[in-house]
Amino acid sequence: MSNSAFPSLPASFVWGVSTAAYQIEGAVTEGGRGATSWDAFCATPGRVFDGHTGEIACDHYHRYPEDIALMKQLGIDAYRFSFAWSRIQPTGSGAVNADGLAFYDRLVDGLLEAGIAPTPTLFHWDTPLALEEKGGWLNRDITDRFADYAHIMGTHFADRIPQWITINEPVVLTMLGYGAGIQAPGQQLGFGALPAAHHQLLAHGRAVTALRAAGADNIGIANNHAPTWAASEKEEDQQAAGLYDAIANWVFADPILLGRYPAELEPFLPVGAQDDLPAISVPIDWYGINYYNPTKVSAPGESTGLIDGQELDIDLPFALQDIEGYPTTDFDWPVVPEAFTELLTSFQTRYGSALPPIYITENGCAINDGPNADGVVADQRRIDYTASHLAAIADAVDAGVDVRGYFHWSLLDNFEWAVGFSQRFGLIYTDYETQERIPKQSYWWYRDVIQSHR
Ligand code: NOJ
Repeated sequence: MSNSAFPSLPASFVWGVSTAAYQIEGAVTEGGRGATSWDAFCATPGRVFDGHTGEIACDHYHRYPEDIALMKQLGIDAYRFSFAWSRIQPTGSGAVNADGLAFYDRLVDGLLEAGIAPTPTLFHWDTPLALEEKGGWLNRDITDRFADYAHIMGTHFADRIPQWITINEPVVLTMLGYGAGIQAPGQQLGFGALPAAHHQLLAHGRAVTALRAAGADNIGIANNHAPTWAASEKEEDQQAAGLYDAIANWVFADPILLGRYPAELEPFLPVGAQDDLPAISVPIDWYGINYYNPTKVSAPGESTGLIDGQELDIDLPFALQDIEGYPTTDFDWPVVPEAFTELLTSFQTRYGSALPPIYITENGCAINDGPNADGVVADQRRIDYTASHLAAIADAVDAGVDVRGYFHWSLLDNFEWAVGFSQRFGLIYTDYETQERIPKQSYWWYRDVIQSHR
């Protein structure tokens, strides 16, 4: 490619890839790491597809030099990964585990040597088990613990880390972890899960303050957002979609960007939640969006658009419906790039001057192609998905939205939570028997996109 494939994206656009600790590291009992909610969830029969666990995953804990070399060859500017809190503080509080910090020192220094900006997330769902056993994110105490942890990381790494992310997708931990119970910690509280949202938001705000006090800068959050489409014009579908939209999107963005909660959700929040809004809405430097697909919502009834293909056993005031008429990924998620443009422009409209610059902190697809007889992974559908979503971002930029970078999910195939290793999101194929990494055709395509844009 000689000319930039996406000329509307700014010249300084940051090209990256994303991963998360529990999904790739393995080595769950090494280096003094404490157990997490996900270790416990995976050990519970029937919770995760085929009994898969993150015990070994991609063995990144040992193979990180090879993974950094693959990133360097890919030509990315930045690498989004997560710190495992329980490697730093095995029980989520108290003394720092030097071995845990040393692992991330090696990773961060290796990235810097390769010319790649380390972009860590402080928390990507792997709650220290000792804290989960005290109520986890339902217990306000965790916000104190998280602020301490953020301060430890800021103090140790501020001089080497140019961009920070507090928390990943609090919506998914709230809805799937505490609401529907299909991810760790596996509780089915329905709307009773909303305190977990509030405590993650407060933990985010307090982490921003703690990081800044430690000298860190350039801080944001990675929130998953899905445009909500009502199933019809009918009043009951519109109402259900509005409520779902508040729970899935605005409850995680309004408190941070506007310093208020959507009014319809206030009854479900902890008493006194309003008093925390100033701490939650401390200024951030940028806002991270993870986008995969839109959601179609109807009035309560039978759900056909099931979350990760699972049936839920709780009564909800809405139902999720299949989105028809679009191609789907191998995970059955609809491929709707125009909804990405719609999402980004809706943020601009809703938040106006309160919206800081945006980074796309995740976007990608499960396409399960493996190596053919020649050892080539010809994942054209991932190339098409990614190209169309980059074009959708470029359309939003043309419409005036300030998008500064893109982190593809994921660098390599990894542990996809409740569905284990059955879904492959990587630009690099992982052979879980041998731990061989095979760059897919999408990897070489992405390298060309990055090169052509420079
Ligand atoms: C969002 C999550 O942050 C990540 O952990 C997950 O693997 C991807 N989406 C794909 O589902």
